[in-house]
Amino acid sequence: MSKRFYITTAIDYVNGQPHLGHAYEKIVADVIARSRRSLGQEVFFLTGLDEHGQKVQQAAQAKGQTPQAYCDELAAQWQAFVVKLGITNDDFVRTTQPRHKAVVQAMLIKLHAQGDVYKAPYRGWYSWKEETFLTEKDREPDGSWHPRWGEVKELVEENWYFRMAKHQQWLIEFIEANPTFVQPDARRNEVLGFLKSRTLEDLCISRPAARLNWGIPIPFDPDYVNYVWFDALTNYVSVPVSLGDKTLSAVLPSTLDSRPATELWPADIHVIGKDIVRFHAVYWPIMLRASGIPLPKQVLVHGWWQKDGAPMSKTTGNVVDPVAVVDEWGVDALRFYVLRELDIGPDGNWTDAGFRSRYQAELANGLGNLVNRSLAMLKRYRNGVVPARSDELAPDAGKVIADTRSLLEQSQLQAGLLSIWSLINRANQYVDQTAPFKLAKDPANAKRLDEVLYNLAETCRVLAVLLWPFIPGTATKIYAQLGLAAAPEKFSAATWGGLAPGHTIGEPSPLFPRKDV
Ligand code: MSP
Repeated sequence: MSKRFYITTAIDYVNGQPHLGHAYEKIVADVIARSRRSLGQEVFFLTGLDEHGQKVQQAAQAKGQTPQAYCDELAAQWQAFVVKLGITNDDFVRTTQPRHKAVVQAMLIKLHAQGDVYKAPYRGWYSWKEETFLTEKDREPDGSWHPRWGEVKELVEENWYFRMAKHQQWLIEFIEANPTFVQPDARRNEVLGFLKSRTLEDLCISRPAARLNWGIPIPFDPDYVNYVWFDALTNYVSVPVSLGDKTLSAVLPSTLDSRPATELWPADIHVIGKDIVRFHAVYWPIMLRASGIPLPKQVLVHGWWQKDGAPMSKTTGNVVDPVAVVDEWGVDALRFYVLRELDIGPDGNWTDAGFRSRYQAELANGLGNLVNRSLAMLKRYRNGVVPARSDELAPDAGKVIADTRSLLEQSQLQAGLLSIWSLINRANQYVDQTAPFKLAKDPANAKRLDEVLYNLAETCRVLAVLLWPFIPGTATKIYAQLGLAAAPEKFSAATWGGLAPGHTIGEPSPLFPRKDV
């Protein structure tokens, strides 16, 4: 089998509450995954959970649970969250799974055998909250530690280190030679700026088990567990290894799974948020390079959502609960809003008023109204039977189809929606210009009315296909209302003329019920 298009999200901390930021990242990755499938590629989409570390250990203790039982309970909630968002992941990785632990250990053993890791004492400032040592550069201008680090204490301990600096020049050259490796460009420049402005310090990849035991044991030193970030990043290869991926199995052999190999590596896109760029664009490439593994093709970095112009925070109650939004407005309204409002890259701002206004203007009045009146008129004036083919809107549709295809191929999701909406607006304008409700009053206009009705119904069909990756539930409803049995999930169906004359459509009904608020 040939290599699949392999896309991943960051794996979420199991002990956090699923919020809008997590939902957004999964929706972005899902739309890319669905687009690629629609365009005919075989896709493997991975998401999952980051379950080790201090905070999980402490939270489980506080609840009187074992860390594993605590993780199992939360993992069920996260998995339900993914389902709620209509995410089409092919697997769900949990870093406590044996298949993952085995690969992390294999990687550590390999790096150890090569002399890429060494043990040394370290004295430094440690953030318990972020589970990381801080350097003098992390201090605020007045010498204090930012509150986001929580309690910061001086600590001396022996640990295992991973040699980084020897890869620094190579990484700079790699990123310079591969402009799409980190996207958008602003993030790429940030990474290059970071790499060029200092010598990389070796990465501490262990924690003493005496302080933290909820982690993957270092196979050659049982007094230590692996640092959560080394553990977490490795998820991107541990799943492919467990599925027999040949590129990886040559380097990290696994006997865990005997299914026929699924070829995944190198990953095509890692979708992540802006706060974890350094882990994905510096540490991860170096970990892979040192292990002799080819690099992923792209790290695609999205911005962060705020609500009403302020960071979301549970303590202040300034949060958007994506589950409540889905329950009230439907999953497609959420998927549409976050992708239409925010391009992949900059930060976004959620306002309830902005959400409602896009729902009303673009979904209900734009798309919903077009489909509803087009199909209702076909039903009323032609008994739901599709008239002879007419190509009046074919050039408009053809241009939008070509533009949308190329935008989807570049993961330009917001621009893709804008392109699709240009066809919606064109078709709504066409209804106003041709005024089929007037044509219907005079039988002498029957042929013209047929033409208009065909153009509208066929545009709705094409729109369903284009919209499928973004709002699959709505796209499916449009197809059902058109009386089409197949799902609109193949982009190749977006070719003008697919609706056969003589075909009888289904029952029109509003796609986005009006909400009086
Ligand atoms: N566990 C690590 C990732 C390890 S990946 C090998 C982690 N987890 S997280 O739960 O804190 O964040 C998961 C993802 O959600 C990250 O990509 C992060 O950027 C994203 N977001 C968290 N808050 C966000 C917003 N407010 N807005 C958008 N995305 C946000 O980091």
